[in-house]
Amino acid sequence: MAARIASSKPISSFLLSSKVKPFSPAYFSTNFVGESPILVRDFIRAALYDPEHGYFSQRSGSVGVLDRSIKFNQLNGRKAYMKHLDAIYKQSDISWFTPVELFKPWYAHGIAEAIMRTTNLSVPLKIYEIGGGSGTCARGVMDYIKLNAPSRVYDSMTYVSVEISSSLAQKQLETVGEVSSHSKKFRVECRDAADPSGWGLDQQPCWVIMLEVLDNLPHDLIYSKNQVSPWMEVWVEKRHDKTELSELYKTLEDPLIGSCMEILDLAKDGKPRGSMTGSIAKSFLAKVFPRPRRCWLPTGCTKLLQVLHGALPKMSLIASDFSYLPDVRIPGERAPLVASKKDGTSSDHNNYLDAKGDADIFFPTDFLLLEDIDHYCSGWLKPKDEKSLKKGKKRRTITLDTSSFMEEFGLPSKTRTKDGYNPMLDDFKNTKFYLSVPTHNTK
Ligand SMILES: C[S@@+](CC[C@H](N)C(=O)[O-])C[C@H]1O[C@@H](n2cnc3c(N)ncnc32)[C@H](O)[C@@H]1O
Repeated sequence: MAARIASSKPISSFLLSSKVKPFSPAYFSTNFVGESPILVRDFIRAALYDPEHGYFSQRSGSVGVLDRSIKFNQLNGRKAYMKHLDAIYKQSDISWFTPVELFKPWYAHGIAEAIMRTTNLSVPLKIYEIGGGSGTCARGVMDYIKLNAPSRVYDSMTYVSVEISSSLAQKQLETVGEVSSHSKKFRVECRDAADPSGWGLDQQPCWVIMLEVLDNLPHDLIYSKNQVSPWMEVWVEKRHDKTELSELYKTLEDPLIGSCMEILDLAKDGKPRGSMTGSIAKSFLAKVFPRPRRCWLPTGCTKLLQVLHGALPKMSLIASDFSYLPDVRIPGERAPLVASKKDGTSSDHNNYLDAKGDADIFFPTDFLLLEDIDHYCSGWLKPKDEKSLKKGKKRRTITLDTSSFMEEFGLPSKTRTKDGYNPMLDDFKNTKFYLSVPTHNTK
């Protein structure tokens, strides 16, 4: 999904095009749910990725690829940039271009420079990219390494893309294949990166890149009817008349939800603690002014990081995503935006259960929580009651605003307009980069 603050286009980055299969208006969100209830994450996964009716499947034939790079230095300033963007959007029938596309090749070059500066270049460089979209990042990173690293680094490098959408996988092969020497080093595996069966064990140091992938990963929801009641996991079921969906609350049981709550330290929430008077006051308030609580959990991200740490124990990670989303209508902590586009106009939904495969569902990333999930999945941060003596290794991590990241590793002068306005630094204020590398440190 696109950075709403970053642009005047409050619409999805998962791009709409006239080429896509027409969406069947007769399809109902109830069709994503069978006779038995499903967890919220399974509903979201179906609404986004159902092979027939999922939002991405319907639109996966379309990717926002700019024909050529924008010549920022020839534009006068913000107004000229917006006009230029408007013209591109009109021409291409695309709703949104992701930053790696808008700022190509400079954005990918910044990522490549960060890798080169942080990696041990005496071992062959191996890069995995999850959800590489149109292949613009892969192409830019490989170009940069070819031009700027010692030739042995480029000659021995491999770049593996793991992409869930078959049409995007194909597109990536085309984009990278434009440079014939890249083709031998580049491979696409069309699969779900969060499915452990697709991975072997790669003990070598490697890099994993994920740009705008976390926001569209399935999430779960937990609910508590007031300030003191225990959290319940939320399931989705068909109502008796089968025409609508409703939520069902069940006692916590799901292990992935349990892991997320453990990381968030929510597991003890709802249980009496603190002073007796404090608990009595809280219970009183909960009875007189009950305030239901809803909390969204990044279970898809947790699962993906568990799988990645299991398969690639020496991986370094670069992820960029939205740290904040404006005007969210769905209730709850870390709640998503649910947006659909009809006749060229984007509108937001008040209820995630309205998503029928015609709506993008995207979440903000809590970067502090992401760091904890990373430490937890690497084995360094232990669940409170785990007695295991096996010590995990601490990771060195840093979260940077996109502007700080690009100032450090990129060439910001290339995206500066004549009057000094620089959309890559000035606009993407609600996006951040997360970098995480392994260490030998067990303390
Ligand atoms: C919003 S797009 C971002 C594309 C690209 N990284 C960019 O920044 O332009 C999300 C990408 O992640 C892919 N994706 C989503 N879930 C995935 C999964 N579980 N495994 C692999 N790829 C996935 C989508 O098909 C798509 O390519």
